[in-house]
Amino acid sequence: MELDEGRIRAELKNRDDLKITVFDSIDSTNLEAERRIRGGERSRMLIAADSQTDGRGRQGRSFYSPSGGLYLSVAFFSGSGVESVLPVTTAAAVAVARAIEEACGAAAEIKWVNDVYIKGKKVCGILTRAVTLNGGAVGIVTGIGINLSDEGFPRELDGIAGAIGETDRNILAARITERLLSFADDPGDKSYLDEYRERSCVIGREIVYYENGTAHSAVATGIDENGGLEITESNKKKTLTSGEITVRVSK
Ligand code: BTN
Repeated sequence: MELDEGRIRAELKNRDDLKITVFDSIDSTNLEAERRIRGGERSRMLIAADSQTDGRGRQGRSFYSPSGGLYLSVAFFSGSGVESVLPVTTAAAVAVARAIEEACGAAAEIKWVNDVYIKGKKVCGILTRAVTLNGGAVGIVTGIGINLSDEGFPRELDGIAGAIGETDRNILAARITERLLSFADDPGDKSYLDEYRERSCVIGREIVYYENGTAHSAVATGIDENGGLEITESNKKKTLTSGEITVRVSK
């Protein structure tokens, strides 16, 4: 099914103020949202694309974005209490995991902070950025990339990345957007955190995180109220609020 603005809108309820734009191909939906915000756009936006030529991932990595995937960015604005990126990222992971599970019927797990996994393979990446103007955050852009097919994946993604299979991307985009906007409407409602904890494939596991280029081993013990990862390292408790972790595979 083609990605289509009208079909996405038909799946959304009471979101007439949302601006929706669908591209066959664009450099990056996140970059497009950021350009529009810098250009003065202050309406909530959904920008979706069938492919990206310059998809961006975390840590400056590129995000493989061939035609037939779902690449989208949802933008909303400060003033509603949504000023920091971590809770948005956490809420987005839950929104995506639930929508993917509904679409493909397989259990979707979350690896802190916001990678969504099915059967041990990453099927979705999320990159949330605050757009700042004159030193202050004005908007938050959440970019979500979902693999529908793993055909033609580059070799370096072998065994790491997976796909959710064919599904109606319009419904998937609408479900994710609806949940993200509900979060933006009421960021004080932290009910998504329990679902995040239930879906976590990290809690109780040995992990490795990096600080100033040094690897640290720890055990992940929980998720705090802001979505931070609680860990115990050499009998000391600590909370990670950013960065990447890897989960140790037991031998
Ligand atoms: C990651 O796993 O490193 C995050 C990947 C985020 C990819 C999405 S695709 C839609 C949006 N546009 C981008 O350029 N990146 C995000």
